[in-house]
Amino acid sequence: MQVCKVRPSLITRGAVALILSTLLLVQCRNTLQPSGIYGTYTHAKECMRAIRLAAYQNLAFSDGSLPNCLRMAFHDAATYRRSRDTGGANGSVLNEVAAGNYSAHAGLNICHDKVLDIVPRIRADACPELTYADAIAVLGAAAAEMAGFQSIPMLLGRPDNLTAFDDVDGFVGECFDSDAQIKFWAEAGMSDPTKAAVTLSSAHGVGTVRVSPVNNCKLGTGPMTPSSRTFDNHYYDVAANPSAYPRQRLLFSDRLLANGSATSGLFETYRTDQSAWAAAFTQQFQEMTMLGVQPSGGYGVNDGWCDGCGEYRGLAVRSSSLPGVFRGLPDLFP
Ligand SMILES: *[C@@H]1O[C@H](CO)[C@@H](O)[C@H](O)[C@H]1NC(C)=O
Ligand SMILES: *[C@@H]1O[C@H](CO)[C@@H](O)[C@H](O)[C@H]1NC(C)=O
Ligand SMILES: *[C@@H]1O[C@H](CO)[C@@H](O)[C@H](O)[C@H]1NC(C)=O
Ligand SMILES: *[C@@H]1O[C@H](CO)[C@@H](O)[C@H](O)[C@H]1NC(C)=O
Repeated sequence: MQVCKVRPSLITRGAVALILSTLLLVQCRNTLQPSGIYGTYTHAKECMRAIRLAAYQNLAFSDGSLPNCLRMAFHDAATYRRSRDTGGANGSVLNEVAAGNYSAHAGLNICHDKVLDIVPRIRADACPELTYADAIAVLGAAAAEMAGFQSIPMLLGRPDNLTAFDDVDGFVGECFDSDAQIKFWAEAGMSDPTKAAVTLSSAHGVGTVRVSPVNNCKLGTGPMTPSSRTFDNHYYDVAANPSAYPRQRLLFSDRLLANGSATSGLFETYRTDQSAWAAAFTQQFQEMTMLGVQPSGGYGVNDGWCDGCGEYRGLAVRSSSLPGVFRGLPDLFP
């Protein structure tokens, strides 16, 4: 809904901004609403920190929740359908996973359960307004950071639609060739679908899910790469050289991306240039987590806030049984 664009000079001005955002809430539900949902940008940023901290306290490789929540950010947002302007980052993945009838979401119950545990606790503690859609997007970014990736600045303000069933049919799959993957990301609304396919697929380098033998799309289970707890550009090496990694083979779609005519050049760039890949992943992830949500307030999809970024690196406690997400860390939220 492009009609919902807001002029930045208006939205930043106190009372005017509040009235405007309230009107926008009514008229235009899929506009990004950092001040409309959270009242002020300052409070939105507190909420951002609360989610990032909750990630460090609750997500782990040991129970699979860390890579699973990275995956969930994809499965919530990439259901946007450009041709119909439906779906996107609206929290509906929770609804879809609970319904249990979407094979593309198989296994996402791990993060589903975490999100349903974490969000009510953050709401009770520091951020009553927190939307599930924002939590899912930022938990994904925090999961990447926890796996060693650079911090990803994120925007908040995605309205929830927890009753929607987004269009999950045709979700990018393990057997898609590179052209089909590009087509998927185009319809999902990414501005550079080839870059999106090559960049975003590198998240397959994190976690233990499914693998396929070199020349067909049969699936097995195992670590997808030799260092599946580290999120760096090793994905490209493994996908491009399956014979060098006989026990870790990623997905058939990953290898088709490695040698696809439209994708192999970019694939090689990211294989050999860690910082080019990291910059591209950051930007593409930001764009993806805004699919279906019209940025406003002077922000573009690639802008974001980094409040809480990197702050909790090295946090020892990763218990899921802490009664309050901020217990023991009051100084961070005066
Ligand atoms: C998901 O919610 C957004 C609002 O944020 C809306 O634009 C989108 O159409 C919703 N999806 C469905 C299927 O209603
Ligand atoms: C899944 O089930 C819900 C109702 O529980 C329904 O609205 C939706 O269309 C179903 N989706 C598919 C793909 O079967
Ligand atoms: C939520 O999704 C349902 C089902 O697609 C739709 O009817 C409703 O208008 C959506 N609500 C919002 C706030 O986007
Ligand atoms: C690309 O990789 C796939 C999977 O390894 C293989 O089946 C296919 O033959 C390769 N195509 C080319 C042109 O090398």
